[in-house]
Amino acid sequence: MKRDMRFPDGFYWGASTASYQVEGNIFTTDWAKAAEEGRVPKAGRACDHYNRYEEDFDIAKKLGHNAHRFSLEWARIEPEEGKFDEEAIEHYRKVILALKKRDMKPYVTLWHFTLPLWFSERGGFEQKDSPKIFARYARYVAEKLGDEILGISTMNEPNVFGSNGWLRGSWPPFKRFALTDAISITNSGRTFESQAQKGLTPFFLYLKVMKNLAKAHNSAYDAIKKVNSAIDVSVVKHVIYFHANWNPFNKLKAGIANYCWTHIFMGRTYKKCDSIGLNYYFHKKFGDTALYEKTDMDWDIYPEGIKGSLELLWKYRIPLFVSEAGIADERDIYRASYIEKQVEAVWEALQDGIDVRGHMYWSLLDNYEWALGYEKRFGLVAINYDTLERTIRPSAHLYKRIIENNGILKGS
Ligand code: BGC
Repeated sequence: MKRDMRFPDGFYWGASTASYQVEGNIFTTDWAKAAEEGRVPKAGRACDHYNRYEEDFDIAKKLGHNAHRFSLEWARIEPEEGKFDEEAIEHYRKVILALKKRDMKPYVTLWHFTLPLWFSERGGFEQKDSPKIFARYARYVAEKLGDEILGISTMNEPNVFGSNGWLRGSWPPFKRFALTDAISITNSGRTFESQAQKGLTPFFLYLKVMKNLAKAHNSAYDAIKKVNSAIDVSVVKHVIYFHANWNPFNKLKAGIANYCWTHIFMGRTYKKCDSIGLNYYFHKKFGDTALYEKTDMDWDIYPEGIKGSLELLWKYRIPLFVSEAGIADERDIYRASYIEKQVEAVWEALQDGIDVRGHMYWSLLDNYEWALGYEKRFGLVAINYDTLERTIRPSAHLYKRIIENNGILKGS
């Protein structure tokens, strides 16, 4: 018999975005510089969300969302070292108020991948004093916006930032742990040659960066709490769900992989987390011979892996929320069933006693997919980049129905 899957009262439903991917016209970051140098695609005016956030929140509201996750652009707020821009912070206050006016809970992330140029040029998170610098920025935001928000995530996906920047060499600062050929990235038929610095050194730098990121989170936590101890401080963690078939050797491999990707960082930071955001996109099953359908990113379609990812994070017994999870699917043929299966898996995690408080689909809008430019489309809302016209995709209505029912009613 099929069961209704009702979520707890007060569960938060919404979608996520990140400043550099949607706002447009951000020129003072490491990514903008890399784009000028032809190493990654230009972000340009993106979705012009900086000017159109009211319109975009109206769409989200119309789609039933009662929460929204977005990030602040550090380079706008602190354009020069130690100098803060009042106008920029005022802009984000308006963004927050625009959400609150619509009864949508703001989930604010302080930093989502892009670094102010001054910070990256002085060595970014390779430098010993980087946690202190990050904490100063966190304190400023808490002082200015702390009264308006109940929750702050310090950073997005430290492991992705570190591994793409220092192991794969596909993102700034393009350092690559390899002695062999550089990789190239293809986007819309255009190939970007990686000019990564190769060798062993990037690996040691990666370890250092990961340590500094953990320290940066912990220092930011202290700084925010000093300003207002009521603010819920979290980190947003990318989890790859490594699992295995029956084979004990494969199980061991999965265990080691989960330890390296998820638990090293969380082990260093969980004591300074009031909650943890989960970003889930893919899994890897050792010893698996199954063939999966693929997303436009060429990732396995395996939304059910979100449950195993929540289980991995539940090790820390801290309230969780899904801060991102979604699918690149330009034709919108898989998205509806993907969302449904993902939500079912979150519900199952809840039944097992895992404390999940919210679900933010990635993404509200199509956006700049980093080194892959604008080709990949994750949005509930499609963007025409020539006209900036917004078009709601059919799958967004299925998500709306789930939200209206606060879950999945099997009879509906
Ligand atoms: C990131 C997003 C990105 C998404 C899809 C996540 O790793 O936080 O910025 O667009 O994945 O690749």
